[in-house]
Parts: sequence; C-alpha cells; structure tokens
Amino acid sequence: MTRPLEPEFVGRTYDDWLFRPQHGVAGSRRDVSLRSRLTSRVPLELPLVSANMDSVTGAGMAKTLALEGGIGIVHRAMTIEAQVEKVARVKRSHGHVVEQPLRLPRGTTLREARAYTRQHNITGILIEESRGSGVLAGLLSNRDMPWAGGGEDRPVEAFMTPASKLVTGRPDIGVEDAERLMFERRIEKLPLVDAEGRIRGLITKKDIILSRHQPHSNRDAKGRLRVGAAIGARGDFLERTAELIRVGVDVLVIDIAHGHSDVMRQAVEALRGRFSEAELVCGNVGTAEGAAFLRDIGAAAIKVGIGPGRGCRTRLETAAGVPQLQAIREAWCAVQDTVPIIADGGVRDDKDIFLALACGASSVMLGSMLSGTDEAPGHVIEDPATGQKRKIYRGMTSPQAVFEALYDDDNAEAVEAALDQPAEGQEVQIPYKGPVRDILHRIRGHLRSAVSYGGGESLAEVRQKVVAEPLRYLVPLSDASRAESYDR
Ligand code: XMP
Repeated sequence: MTRPLEPEFVGRTYDDWLFRPQHGVAGSRRDVSLRSRLTSRVPLELPLVSANMDSVTGAGMAKTLALEGGIGIVHRAMTIEAQVEKVARVKRSHGHVVEQPLRLPRGTTLREARAYTRQHNITGILIEESRGSGVLAGLLSNRDMPWAGGGEDRPVEAFMTPASKLVTGRPDIGVEDAERLMFERRIEKLPLVDAEGRIRGLITKKDIILSRHQPHSNRDAKGRLRVGAAIGARGDFLERTAELIRVGVDVLVIDIAHGHSDVMRQAVEALRGRFSEAELVCGNVGTAEGAAFLRDIGAAAIKVGIGPGRGCRTRLETAAGVPQLQAIREAWCAVQDTVPIIADGGVRDDKDIFLALACGASSVMLGSMLSGTDEAPGHVIEDPATGQKRKIYRGMTSPQAVFEALYDDDNAEAVEAALDQPAEGQEVQIPYKGPVRDILHRIRGHLRSAVSYGGGESLAEVRQKVVAEPLRYLVPLSDASRAESYDR
C-alpha cells in the first residue's frame, strides 16, 4: 500500500512545476465537477477548507464556505462557549429545519409579540401552552396581527391559528414530503411536533427556497450546513469536544503544530474512548512517516503542512519543515487514497490548489488567501494617508494571537503553557478584499479550467490519472522557465 516517493519531488514545491496540457474533452466549464471529500463521511463540491485561524474562520466564513460547497473549520482560540456558539450559528442557518424555533407562551400580549417578531426579523412565531412547556398551542403569523393596530394588550391566543387547525409534520419528515404537504395545503410554515404535541422543529418555505438556490452547498442529512471545529490535544479538549458534538459539529480537527507525536496519539485515544463516532481529522505532519502514523491511529483525514503558511515562522526558527508539494506527495505515497489528505498552507496562486490536488491532496486548506475578506474576523483598517483598506492576518502562534486567546481564557495552565513557548508565527496586514464569495468563485473557475487543460471532465477523473504517475504530466522548471511563467 505504501509506494516510494518519486525522487524528483524532493526539495520541490508549487512554483517548481507546470502542468503539461492534455487533449481537452470538457464541454462547458460550468459542467466540470470539482467534487471531492474532506473525509469519507464529509463530501465537498468545492475542495476548499478555510483555516482554523482567528483571522480567518468564525461563523460567517464557515457559513459562506459551506454555502459554496466547501467547509470552514472554526478556530479554537476562544472559550468553549464562544466556539460552540459559532458552530451552533452555522448549523442553525439556512437548514431545511429550524431545530429550535423561537416561541412565546399563549398569554403573551400582542404588543410583546409584535416587538419580538420585529426584533428577530421573523414573519411568524410558534405559540406554546405555557413558558418552557414546548407544547404547541398555535401559530401567530404576521397576517394574524391586525395591521392597523388595536388589541395590543390582548393575549396572542385570541389571534393565533390554534394547534387543532394547524397542519403539522412529524419530526423526521423529509424535505420532499414537507414541501409537497406545504404546497398542497398552501402554507408557508410547517411546525414539526412529536406524538405528545411537543415542538420539535419548524420548516419554512423561505428556507426551502433558499437552499434550492444553492444546489452545491455542503449540507448534512438534515439539510443543515456542515461545519468543522478545531480542538487541541490537552487541557479542556475533551470538554470542548463534548460541547461541540452536542451542537452538531460535523468534523473535529485536532490541530497541533507537530502531529507526528505521542501527544497526538494520546489525544486520539482519549477522544476515541469517549466519542467513538466522532470524525477526527489530525495534523499537522509533513512526511510519509507522519502520514502513516496518523492513518494508523485512525485519522479520518490527514492535514499536511509544516511551515509553508504565510503567517508561519517555524522553518525560520527551527529548521523543521518539508517543501509543501513534496510533503503532499510523500503523504499520498504513504497512504494513497486510504485516508484523504488536506494540503494545508502555502497556497499563493490558484494554480497551487490544482497542483496540490493533482499530486495527492483531496482538499486544500486556505488561510491568507481567504483573509482580508468581509467574512474573516477582525476590522477593516483604513490608512488615513493613502486611503488603503487592510485587515490583519496572523499566525496562530504569533504573539498577538496568543495574547488575545489568553485574554479570553482564565485557564492558568493554558496561559503558562502558551507563555512558555516562543512565537513561531507572525502578523501581516492584508489588503481588504471584499466578499469571500468572489474569491471562491474565482478559484472555482480556475480549477475548472485546470481540469479542462488536464484532459478530463471532472477533477476526480484528472486527479486519478495524474496521481498515479505525476511525472508524466508535470514539467519541471528552470530558473529561466520559472521567470517566463511567473514574472509579470
Ligand atoms: P496560508 O499560507 O494559507 O497557511 O496562510 C495557513 C496555515 O498556516 C498554519 N499556521 C501556522 N503555522 N505558525 C505556524 O508554523 C503559526 O503561527 C501558524 N498559524 C497558522 C496553519 O496550518 C494554517 O492552516
């Protein structure tokens, strides 16, 4: 199952190669599939993952990545509560089913109900028998409230459609059945109730239509957007994992700088003991031995990259590292397609993404390329002299990121451990780039073109061909040919 690394990859990375154009067979670029996988259980329509960094992935970034067919990994440099809240926010948004619909008790006045629906920007509200009972009493929609005002101090039960007259669905109703029922009965909201009449969810026409418009979005079996979250290997990681699983996280990324280590093995054993079903991505490693080690301890995907990242100083400070395309190829030769590989860090141009995938990765994690966007956490800074707008991007072990995370953390052990470790990351300012969707669309377009030059109709088809014998397809560059290719 293991095969030797082709010696031509030693010491080489993205800018050392071009791809030899093949006979094109793809028709319209729009039809070129980029389908891949993060892990065997998590498919991707766009093979991109946003990095678990505090200047890259919060709820907004993760939501957009999933809507576009990729996935975001929410960073962990914050309290458990804060991270869980972000993951829960992604899981709640744009799903077919609102799992915890807002509700008011039947004694609420019309005035209070109006204020509540306005505050939450909703067009109707479920009414329960008594506060906290969860038993469906009725539905109060905007249409039920007198639009000219009046009756403001009367209870909502005088206006709502009572449960006895409502169309409801079973909690496990599928989206197609729900849609048919809603059309037949001409309703826009379908409360889901169990045999005891308790509220178990809500399906709205608006959410169904929204998800129709995003056919490639990355959703779980319940129609909720998929999202990942980073955890550590020590301290509160078990507690953090329990809470993240409780709100429906799809994949956990055990994110440590040196993943080929006893610390990683112990963390995976501890996690497996308590959460046998959890999807555990492990990293980072940069060698064949590291990849085989992570496969053997049961990683669901292997994150590859020691020091290529834009915010990293690891190679400068410690000399540890492997050129990124070599590292990806080594990892693939070690595990082949038994465990998917995530190429993490060092992507500067869109072509790097294609090369990573063609040489063995199944997905590519991006940090700096997605930073500086509206969805990246942090503020836009405007230079008063030049008017240039920028955002901060920083390595997670940069002094700035470490201090901010600690500020949020009253765990003395974590504070001490972090202060003990010299910085291996740095902070840089990135020009403000606008919505991340534009970047994802650009990458999607370039990847489709690359597939077309690769002589296939889908990424999977080209990858399968190239990964088996990459040297047939790759052209090594001299300094002169590199200058001809990239100097503009
Ligand atoms: P790019 O190049 O996409 O890289 O910005 C993102 C990846 O960089 C890694 N990372 C770090 N590596 N010290 C490091 O050695 C750090 O402080 C640091 N912060 C992030 C990480 O793998 C990320 O996904």
